[in-house]
Amino acid sequence: INSLCNRGVHACPHRCSCSGSEVECADVSNMTSFPVDGLPSNTTVLSIWSAQISSLEAGYFNAVPFLNRLQLYAGLLDNLPSDLLRNASRLSSLDLTGNRLIRLPLGVFRQKSLRDLVLKNNRIEEAEAGWFDENNSLTRLDLSGNRLSDIPVSFLHKLQHLEHLDLSDNKLEALQPDALKNLHHLDVLNLAGNKLSALTPTTFSHNPKISRLFLQENQLRDLPPSLLSGLRRLQLLLLNQNRLRHLPAGLLDDRDSSFQLILAINPWLCDGKMEYLWRWLNEHPQSVFYLEEVTCAGPEALKNRQVASLTESELGLVR
Ligand SMILES: *[C@@H]1O[C@H](CO)[C@@H](O)[C@H](O)[C@H]1NC(C)=O
Ligand SMILES: *[C@@H]1O[C@H](CO)[C@@H](O)[C@H](O)[C@H]1NC(C)=O
Ligand SMILES: *[C@@H]1O[C@H](CO)[C@@H](O)[C@H](O)[C@H]1NC(C)=O
Ligand SMILES: *[C@@H]1O[C@H](CO)[C@@H](O)[C@H](O)[C@H]1NC(C)=O
Repeated sequence: INSLCNRGVHACPHRCSCSGSEVECADVSNMTSFPVDGLPSNTTVLSIWSAQISSLEAGYFNAVPFLNRLQLYAGLLDNLPSDLLRNASRLSSLDLTGNRLIRLPLGVFRQKSLRDLVLKNNRIEEAEAGWFDENNSLTRLDLSGNRLSDIPVSFLHKLQHLEHLDLSDNKLEALQPDALKNLHHLDVLNLAGNKLSALTPTTFSHNPKISRLFLQENQLRDLPPSLLSGLRRLQLLLLNQNRLRHLPAGLLDDRDSSFQLILAINPWLCDGKMEYLWRWLNEHPQSVFYLEEVTCAGPEALKNRQVASLTESELGLVR
């Protein structure tokens, strides 16, 4: 029966469901290889969840020439062949979340049609410029939840069309000063959950389109006053769970009224240098999520007080 079903227009792989040109194989924990034989030849979307698939080969794409989106989620892939996408000429979205990828070969994502690449929750230790062509079309890259301790400048410089970059939950300790220089279309940047301790004043100066910036759960101690000055479209900034003691005067100036910010869980030091943030919080309380969690870590007398509730004399601003 199975082999009959595998032929012709009504083909659908065993234990998968096919609807129009979309195929979904969910929780197929005993599927050990790519279901290449049973796929309808007009498949455009293929999602395989929780299978025991440990390899993906370029030849598989020959059976599904119209494949546009491939999701192989929570599998056992630990490597990919360098010619993987050679014949996947219509593939625009590849999601390999939750596999075991460590190192990937040069050229692996060379495919002009590829726009959306998700490599979230793997074990990748190095991001290499050679994965992509010079003229790639990538607009979204998600490398969150890997083991990156560094992101080479040459890697990001190549991804000129990126609009959405997620590097969260890695081990990044620094971002090179001009790492984001070529990313003129960047809209969403997620650097949360790394070990960043500082950013240079020009880090974002070539990315005027950033609207959402995630910097929470890092080790940031100070921010340059002009850090956000070119970011006219910034709508959301997360700075919670860092090591910030003050915000520099001017940092949050000229934001429009829809701007939203999270500052909670930082060791705010409520001395005279807190004046800028204190005034800003009182002038824009509606812009701050978890305002009540923006509290003083010191000095001792003001410990745990809400920053916004302090008085001028408590901050030592009255002579
Ligand atoms: C693909 O084939 C299935 C039958 O197997 C059919 O229902 C569907 O309409 C076809 N889709 C396209 C886009 O031709
Ligand atoms: C996979 O497991 C299901 C039951 O969980 C069973 O019906 C099916 O025959 C199995 N398939 C293979 C190829 O072993
Ligand atoms: C790609 O397609 C060409 C032409 O159909 C074929 O000769 C070649 O073997 C395919 N390459 C791979 C890696 O499957
Ligand atoms: C992309 O670059 C490759 C090699 O640099 C070249 O062969 C190819 O023609 C280019 N494609 C487009 C669409 O520019």
